[in-house]
Amino acid sequence: MSNRVVNVLAAASVAGLMFALFGMSSGNAAGAGPAEQVKDRQQTMKKLGGGMGAVAKYVKNEGGTLEDAAKGAEAVLAVSKVDPKAIFPEGTAVGVTDSAAKPELWKNWAEVQRYWSAIQPAAEKLDAAVKSGDRAQIAQALGATSRTCGSCHEDFRVKKD
Ligand code: HEC
Repeated sequence: MSNRVVNVLAAASVAGLMFALFGMSSGNAAGAGPAEQVKDRQQTMKKLGGGMGAVAKYVKNEGGTLEDAAKGAEAVLAVSKVDPKAIFPEGTAVGVTDSAAKPELWKNWAEVQRYWSAIQPAAEKLDAAVKSGDRAQIAQALGATSRTCGSCHEDFRVKKD
């Protein structure tokens, strides 16, 4: 075997090893443990909350700029496109660290998918409203988007006091 071939083979096997070692934890929820998956979900939800908050700040004239509102709406829209299976992997209900996801969520998966897929069209309208700059229209779209969050939280999220 020439040196060159040996080097190529060595490089390939190192790459394979690296993948085996780190491939599973490359931010892909499918390979992460339940505690990590709960944390990921809560962070994803925080992105939604932050995005909605940025739009609300503009609507309420609390110092939020239209630019921040646009970023917020885009964040909500981006998250709405994530497959709910990746956000709600099985085995991450209440009991896993501080998960507030009710076990019923996995028993009513069709409903979860319905709730989840309602976010995207609402977020698209929100995004368009923010781009129009019309505060009343934004407020209306924000309310509609927020209801898509609330219905799922009402059914499948443990209330924290
Ligand atoms: C299909 C169901 C569902 C939808 C739709 C949904 N959520 Fe959630 N949300 C949950 C569940 C379940 C939890 C609890 C997660 C946990 O503790 O693991 C949660 C938690 C949260 C949290 C708290 C995160 C934390 O720090 O613990 C925020 C904020 C949040 N959601 C915002 C939103 C917003 C904003 C929307 C709409 C744009 C939304 N969610 C849509 C199910 C949903």
